[in-house]
This record gives sequence, structure tokens and C-alpha cells, in this order.
Amino acid sequence: MLTWDEDQSSTELQPRLQQATALPTSTLAEPTREKPTQADGTQRRVNAADKRIINGQTDVNQLVPFKYKWAWEKYLATCANHWMPQEVNMTRDIALWKSPNGLSEDERRIIKRNLGFFVTADSLAANNIVLGTYRHITAPECRQFLLRQAFEEAIHTHAYQYIVESLGLDESEIFNAYHEVDSIRNKDEFLIPFIDAIMDPNFKTGTPEADQTLLKSLIVFACLMEGLFFYVGFTQILALGRQNKMTGAAEQYQYILRDESMHCNFGIDLINQIKLENPHLWTPALKAEVKVLFEKAVELEYRYAEDTMPRGVLGLNASMFKGYLRYIANRRATQIGLEPLFPNEENPFPWMSEMIDLKKERNFFETRVIEYQSGGALSWD
Ligand SMILES: [Fe+2]
Ligand SMILES: [Fe+2]
Repeated sequence: MLTWDEDQSSTELQPRLQQATALPTSTLAEPTREKPTQADGTQRRVNAADKRIINGQTDVNQLVPFKYKWAWEKYLATCANHWMPQEVNMTRDIALWKSPNGLSEDERRIIKRNLGFFVTADSLAANNIVLGTYRHITAPECRQFLLRQAFEEAIHTHAYQYIVESLGLDESEIFNAYHEVDSIRNKDEFLIPFIDAIMDPNFKTGTPEADQTLLKSLIVFACLMEGLFFYVGFTQILALGRQNKMTGAAEQYQYILRDESMHCNFGIDLINQIKLENPHLWTPALKAEVKVLFEKAVELEYRYAEDTMPRGVLGLNASMFKGYLRYIANRRATQIGLEPLFPNEENPFPWMSEMIDLKKERNFFETRVIEYQSGGALSWD
């Protein structure tokens, strides 16, 4: 069970954060290399039906034949949405930030807190994938998506760094916020035990307990980190953009939100497929434990909303987020087959759903005119 100590100091947290981001040297070169041999001594070819998301025995180096088409299709969709931070023009943001009366103190607080959380959050996400999740997943289609996802997390960290640099913010203040700002530190401290568990070089799947540890870590990462802890921050910056403020940053956040929404959906498909292939893992005790984690995550994200918005700002206030976070938590819970935790919650920010589907609201901030697609998705006529 997760233990929670609100008074844990930042100095106690630091070694754990460093551990989460350190590079274990022995964890990367462990592909499943099973090469089952038939009675006549020839090596058996991969049969799609034999593939498994975890604990599979088929060769992970052979992408095809496909079994998990949904993973491959999501991989293609993420590639079609490729973007890079430096393609977004930040000139208006810089002018507004530097103008003495351009933004209120509350708006500046939101931006700094936001970047303080996100500049390290996406590094945690990338390390969790590369050093944790990836080696435990034995379906090459899913590994292919995870490789793309890891690169997108690097792009997100790049985007946040690019905003910090463009605005000339105090880099040490922003990059140390996850040690120094309680509402941010508490969210990271909630996540890190689940990241550490699967990054441990000695951790291996193959027992019900270990497989449940992995499943729980995937649920925390997809449903609560990417699927919940990002949403107060995204809503705030996109609300600024809707008021024609910080439109460059808002445009970057819009692309990031679209990416994260895809990551979250992939993670949920992965979780549900593991449950389908291993129904013995989804026990009443595990469901109860997951429910407690959802409740804790909603509470932490709500405290983050309170800390970042001590007063109403941009037509938003912390209490509006109570309903929003419950609404999102219900959605994540039902997506993985749990009952809604907070019945009858409605979405107070329907415009956020439109933001997630960029095609519907093309050129939302009118900073450029393309629906961003590249590579294989370009049409050549
Ligand atoms: Fe990300
Ligand atoms: Fe992500």
C-alpha cells in the first residue's frame, strides 16, 4: 500500500527524485530473446496469436505479424501529429511578459507554477517509459508506440524549457520547483514510488504480485499522471490563450495536450489488454487499492489548483476544478472498468474537450494556419 506523509521534507524527497532519474546500467539490454525450437530443430516463426503484452515468449524484435493493431495505429497517429517547439512563434508572449502591465501577478504566478511542475514532470514520464515500462512490455507493436512516446516526452520537456528561456525566467527557480514548491513536490512524491518500483533493476514480471505491481504502475502513470495531474495546468494556460494572452505558450500546450491525450488512451488500452490476458490480476483488493489512489490523486491535484489560484483568475477558480477533477477521475475509472468514483459530476470546461481534438478547433489561437501534420500523413497532390 502507498504510505503518505504530508510533512515529508524536500530534503527527504531529493534522494528519491534523484533515484528516479538516475540511469541504472543493467536494465536496458534485456529483450526477450526466447527462440522456441520445433521438434525438427528449426526455429519456429512468430505466430501473432502467441504474442502477449506482458510475459510473452515471442521474439520482441519481430514487429510483424501484428496482433495489437490498435497500438500500431496509435503509433501512426502520433507520428502524423509531429511538431517541434521552436516552430512556434513566441514574440507576442515575450512582449507581454516583459510589459509591466501586461499580466496580473496572479497570471504570472500561474505561468511560473505551471512551468515549475511541467519542466520536470515530462522527464519523469520519459524515464518511467525508457527505464521502467519498456523492458516489461513484450509486444513489439506496443514497444514501438512507447519509443515514439518517449521522444514526445523529450519534445514536451524541450517545449517547457523553450518557454522558460524565451521569457527569460529564473531557470533555477523553475527547474527546482519540484523540490521547493509543496503543491508540486507532493504530486511528484505520490508518483515516484510507482516509477521506482518498475525501474528497479531487480524487478521482473512473471508472478501475480509483480504483475500487479506493473499494472498498478501503468494505471498511476496513464490515468493519474498523464490523465489527471496535467489537467489543472493545461486548463490554466489554455484559458490564458483563450483570452489572447501567452498565445505561443498556449499553442505549445495545445499540441502537448493532444499528445498526452493519445498517451493516456494508449496506456488505458494497454491496461485493459493486460487485464484481458491476465484476469487473475484484477482482484477486488487491487481494485480497492486503485480506488484509493484515484481519490488521493484528485485531492493532490485539487490542492495544486488552490495553490496556483489563491483567488479567481481568468474566469477560473479552484473550486471549479473540484468538479472538473472529479469528472475526469470518473472518466478514467470507467475507462479501466471501475465504477465512477464521484457520480453525477459534469464537465465545467466543455471547451477543453474541443482543445483535445485539434482538428475541430483548427488554428484556435490564430497564430498559424496549419493543421499540423507531417511525414506519412502529408498529401502529395
Ligand atoms: Fe508529456
Ligand atoms: Fe505523456
